[in-house]
Amino acid sequence: MTTTPDTSVLSIDDITVGYGGVPAVRNFSASVRAGEILALLGPNGAGKTTTLLAAVGALPLMSGTVTALGEPIDGRVERNARRGITLVPDNRGVFHRLSVADNLRLAKRKGGGSIDSVYDHFPRLRDLRSRRCGNLSGGEQQMLALAKALLTRPSVLLIDELSLGLSPIAVQDLLPRLRAIADDQQMAVVLVEQHIDLALGIADTAIVLHHGRVALTGSARELRDRRDTVEDAYFGRIGHLSES
Ligand SMILES: Nc1ncnc2c1ncn2[C@@H]1O[C@H](COP(=O)(O)OP(=O)(O)OP(=O)(O)O)[C@@H](O)[C@H]1O
Ligand SMILES: [Mg+2]
Repeated sequence: MTTTPDTSVLSIDDITVGYGGVPAVRNFSASVRAGEILALLGPNGAGKTTTLLAAVGALPLMSGTVTALGEPIDGRVERNARRGITLVPDNRGVFHRLSVADNLRLAKRKGGGSIDSVYDHFPRLRDLRSRRCGNLSGGEQQMLALAKALLTRPSVLLIDELSLGLSPIAVQDLLPRLRAIADDQQMAVVLVEQHIDLALGIADTAIVLHHGRVALTGSARELRDRRDTVEDAYFGRIGHLSES
């Protein structure tokens, strides 16, 4: 993949990161430009969440660098979030006892987007605004998690398993919305997604991780045309790129 660090809003350069001194992800590099979506694919335990946590400064790097919006990322996660680098975690991060509207009010920041504009993107949430979040469906909770993140008007949005527990039909509905928002707001997105075809359908570039290493990387269009190779990389049937 051609990397163009000068125009990238997120640049991950040869990072190795893990837990308790044991690497979980090795020699990972990626770059994402404004308005671009990178799909990060791979089986359970491949290192997708670890990569996202490293990218927002929540895990210390063992080596390599992450640069976002022109500055190296450090461990000040709150500050990084205020600078516009937002993670939607895989546990969704919504408050179950509060209503949809209250969750959105809490997420709103000075200079961020308006709650009305978020309701325009997700009209279903407007209908549900008085409903307690604990009583939303899985898909509605995912929509709310995305809506909360969008309220901060992020420049870089990292989404961990947006479609966890959702039917392919619900994902089919949600992902094109994400594409449209990335285009409209020129937001850079890293999307961790289990629905490979749906992710490749809206992404610009993709990386397949296997056992903490990059097994395949390319444009989403190219990988859509090489679906068998994607599957081989996903299941570890081809060597890691750094070894080839
Ligand atoms: N807190 C932790 N402490 C120790 N090891 C961890 C921790 N979190 C993850 N790991 C290990 O790091 C590796 C990568 O895990 P990670 O959560 O990044 O995978 P993933 O690709 O997000 O998987 P999944 O699809 O299941 O969410 C795995 O071997 C996992 O067991
Ligand atoms: Mg994960």
